[in-house]
Amino acid sequence: MDLGIAKRVAIVTGSSQGIGKAIAFGLAIEHVKVTICARNEDVLKKAAKEIESLTGSEVLPVRTDLTNEKDVKSLVKTTVERFGGVDILVNNTGGPPTALFVETSEEDWRRTVDLLLMSVINCCREVIPFMKERKWGRIINMTSFAVKQPAERLILSNSIRAAVLGLTKTMSNELAEYGILVNAVCPGWTLTRRVEELAKSIAAKTGKTYEAAIAEWANSIPLNRLAEPEEIANLVVFLASEKASYITGTVMQVDGGFIKSLL
Ligand SMILES: NC(=O)c1ccc[n+]([C@@H]2O[C@H](COP(=O)([O-])OP(=O)(O)OC[C@H]3O[C@@H](n4cnc5c(N)ncnc54)[C@H](OP(=O)(O)O)[C@@H]3O)[C@@H](O)[C@H]2O)c1
Repeated sequence: MDLGIAKRVAIVTGSSQGIGKAIAFGLAIEHVKVTICARNEDVLKKAAKEIESLTGSEVLPVRTDLTNEKDVKSLVKTTVERFGGVDILVNNTGGPPTALFVETSEEDWRRTVDLLLMSVINCCREVIPFMKERKWGRIINMTSFAVKQPAERLILSNSIRAAVLGLTKTMSNELAEYGILVNAVCPGWTLTRRVEELAKSIAAKTGKTYEAAIAEWANSIPLNRLAEPEEIANLVVFLASEKASYITGTVMQVDGGFIKSLL
């Protein structure tokens, strides 16, 4: 299927590894020019080279801390200077630490708001004028299965990501007249560095092995395995495409059947 987005310009945030990198790769395969960003510049540049050499598309690495508004402005400015605009924005970041409510501090909450919510708001604010200019845009906010089924010890993520859904739905209504579609994607358990670290930390806290922690998640999923990052990226690339022209304001999970509710 021709997705109709060759030569479009995308910014994928939090994309030097894991789900974000897989999304950048998936867009680059469709001949989209992609800006990727993360804090660790060495890992970021290596990812850009790898995606570029495997896809032949242009990939621009811009070192960015998404919790810093100035960095976000410069991320978008650098992209526009290089590629002439922005058509697609995928908002992805790292996740907050695991904790029970009683273990969290005010600082933890403020940091999580900056990482998961303000980063999305700031990126959207910077790119929307360019999307309006072309009367075409795609914004995809990466959240988590936890917005539909709150996860244990993830109160920071469970709470603040819910606000991203309110933002997504409201923005989809406000921006429809400009041809800008706004959706949210909820990854289920996916084999990335973050999940490996989470499994190690659960193993250390509970005395289980790392393999047992991963197997426990797999057993709770009808497809009986964790996702590969590419399996999350496939939906995001479709939502970013011309073919998703009538989809806006939705919240879609890619979770192997993990979420137990009807919606
Ligand atoms: N994996 C799962 O099972 C799963 C399930 C549900 C939801 N999620 C959510 O999906 C998102 C991606 O997950 P993942 O597993 O792919 O994570 P990951 O492997 O840890 O990758 C996170 C990416 O974001 C970058 N990043 C983190 N903080 C950043 C910041 N402040 N500014 C700029 N870049 C930043 C990281 O690079 P640097 O560290 O160099 O900045 C890295 O490139 C996370 O929010 C996670 O909570 C994941």
